[in-house]
Amino acid sequence: MKIVLLLGGTSPEREVSKNTAKSILKALRELGQEVILVDPAYGLNQPNNEDDYFSEKNYSEPNNRNYLEIINSSLFDEVDLVFLALHGRWGEDGTIQSLLEMRGIKYTGSKILTSALAMDKAMTKVVIQHFGVSTPDWLVANISEQDYSAYPEKIRTQLGFPCVIKPNDQGSSVSLTICKKDEDVIPAIMLALRYSDKALIEKFIPGREITVAVLDGAALPILEIVPKSGLYDYESKYTAGKSEYIVPAPMPEEVSIEIQEQAVKAYNAVGCKCYSRIDFRLTENNKAYCLEINTLPGMTNLSLVPKAANAAGISFLELIDRIVKDAVN
Ligand SMILES: Nc1ncnc2c1ncn2[C@@H]1O[C@H](COP(=O)(O)OP(=O)(O)O)[C@@H](O)[C@H]1O
Ligand SMILES: [Mg+2]
Repeated sequence: MKIVLLLGGTSPEREVSKNTAKSILKALRELGQEVILVDPAYGLNQPNNEDDYFSEKNYSEPNNRNYLEIINSSLFDEVDLVFLALHGRWGEDGTIQSLLEMRGIKYTGSKILTSALAMDKAMTKVVIQHFGVSTPDWLVANISEQDYSAYPEKIRTQLGFPCVIKPNDQGSSVSLTICKKDEDVIPAIMLALRYSDKALIEKFIPGREITVAVLDGAALPILEIVPKSGLYDYESKYTAGKSEYIVPAPMPEEVSIEIQEQAVKAYNAVGCKCYSRIDFRLTENNKAYCLEINTLPGMTNLSLVPKAANAAGISFLELIDRIVKDAVN
């Protein structure tokens, strides 16, 4: 099969995407697939040398019009499948999925609506809550509001402190603040609004960090992340040795069954396809709260979905092969 592996892109998760792509490229070649790399940020000006896709160097100014040009180019005429190794905006949010649909090209993972919905954390919460999945209580502050001075009071009465304020649609905890008191609120909203049009304000859920990978509608073993710094931030996420991973996460069987059910419910609620990773917080009393759904989760050697698959006896090669087969069938 002739597969284009899309990597890089213009989102803040560009570098993470390259790592994901490195692992996927190796696996696809081992599976005997013919693979071409394409970084949509470069448009028609793609690097000549494969190694250059992974270098720090930028070939042309990353620009969203480049996406249109390259997807619409003849390079995609004879392609059997696009494997999406992109993360975040333009890659995970339904945009690239729309362009590929217009060209009639098959691609891996979830479709347009699911991708767009899951990228919007607040909208995801509305939908999953409707289907009975627990999620922390929340408020949304919009960029169009002129004055955020009512929020400390709103938080005190509707959520309580501490609360978490984060951009509504950008991954990787780039600008998340844990607010303990009134004075923390406005700066945290302003920070989140630098990255997104909406700031999501959530009740802080103390407890453990767990995530559930769902593959073809079935939950894999629950994975627990124990960040050495206490907070699962950008650094602990992407630096080797900054977090410890435990899979299956130690907990009573009935609790893990319940959480896996919640994960599958969330997956189905937003209409995920093939694979996704659902993040939760788990309280001391074993109550799980869903934070978000990742429709194109990381696939590096540090990543969580491959670890969970491995615990279920599914090798990385098999995982990639299943994602390919799902997309072409
Ligand atoms: N409401 C919350 N309560 C406690 N911790 C939170 C909450 N929201 C986010 N966090 C912490 O921040 C991390 C990142 O938040 P998340 O919503 O998953 O965004 P993303 O992974 O897209 O950056 C979580 O894994 C968790 O450690
Ligand atoms: Mg997350």
